[in-house]
Amino acid sequence: MADLIMVTGGTGYIGSHTVVELQQSGFEVVIVDDLSNSGIEVLDNIEKITGTRPLFEQFDLADRDKTADFFARNKGIKAIIHFAAYKAVGESVQKPLAYYRNNLVSLINLLDNQIKYKIENIVFSSSCTVYGQPDVLPVTEQTPRKDAESPYGNTKRICEDILHDTIAANQQLKGISLRYFNPVGAHPSALIGELPLGVPQNLVPFITQTAAGLRDELKVFGNDYNTPDGSAIRDYIHVVDLAKAHVIAIERLLKAKNKTNYEVFNLGTGTGLSVLEIVKGFERATGVKLNYRIVERRAGDIEKIWADTTYANNELGWKAEKGLDETLLSAWNWEKKVRGIK
Ligand code: UD1
Repeated sequence: MADLIMVTGGTGYIGSHTVVELQQSGFEVVIVDDLSNSGIEVLDNIEKITGTRPLFEQFDLADRDKTADFFARNKGIKAIIHFAAYKAVGESVQKPLAYYRNNLVSLINLLDNQIKYKIENIVFSSSCTVYGQPDVLPVTEQTPRKDAESPYGNTKRICEDILHDTIAANQQLKGISLRYFNPVGAHPSALIGELPLGVPQNLVPFITQTAAGLRDELKVFGNDYNTPDGSAIRDYIHVVDLAKAHVIAIERLLKAKNKTNYEVFNLGTGTGLSVLEIVKGFERATGVKLNYRIVERRAGDIEKIWADTTYANNELGWKAEKGLDETLLSAWNWEKKVRGIK
């Protein structure tokens, strides 16, 4: 019988791509999502891609009673992948309590039930935001974490600590935190992808919406950084490459191949690219000209970060495989599909 994996936030952007990869690797999936930032139609599209509809329950994991009720009814879960969280950096500055409550309490509720029902394994969605602006690049997993720039970033750092401490106190638990760099792109089928509510805050959705005519122009935030072309540098990773790393992390835990009960991996490509390189890359990959303008730096942005992926390459046997053009083209194909552009 297939192992059952619980995926929280499984109708969201990274979650939905991970559900597809899990199902295609032979796992059975139960999604829990409150649909606060995703739609129920994602289930249809996952089914179109994989031929299997994941199990699904809609509720908020910060609700202690509903979470307890779910675990009382759903036995046989072998591992949890915890994506469900608020993720808008700017909004987190305006609503810190909403972010701390949602992101911290949902993890605590999950861990309580893992202990109660002896569910040994958890993979947690962390972020390179825990490194702040690092002093040395690229960053390895040993690079010291810094004070976060936002409540959102703080929740990722604190959740890592909650996981670390809970695993230390409960020898039967095992966990992996995956620190994502900048996930972009969409499934090659163009059936699932990133669908931001309202005006996109992140670079690639803003680019594709500008190309689609929904936005007048892309604002490039700053060209006076200490980088070769003056714009800020990030490590942009195809969401399908990222999703595949989750399957490997789950298999590592289920087969007890982990070296310690709590492990951390960077998930990036290992290459840093500037905002202007992404703009040029998009134009090259799609043949669509982008209307863009250089404006002031965005408050809270760091100058540059990219990953050293040696540890993930060696330990997980995982490497990001998709190139920039394929990645940006997949984002554009998704946007065109959503907007009905031929
Ligand atoms: C940040 C966090 C990341 C988090 C994400 C969620 C860091 C290093 N990264 O990503 O962990 O998951 O927020 O939102 O803290 N840009 C423009 N114009 C735009 C939009 C963005 O020039 O309209 C630039 C930004 O200034 C930045 C780059 O594009 O240099 C990427 O920005 P974005 O996609 O928002 O991601 P991060 O801020 O890197």
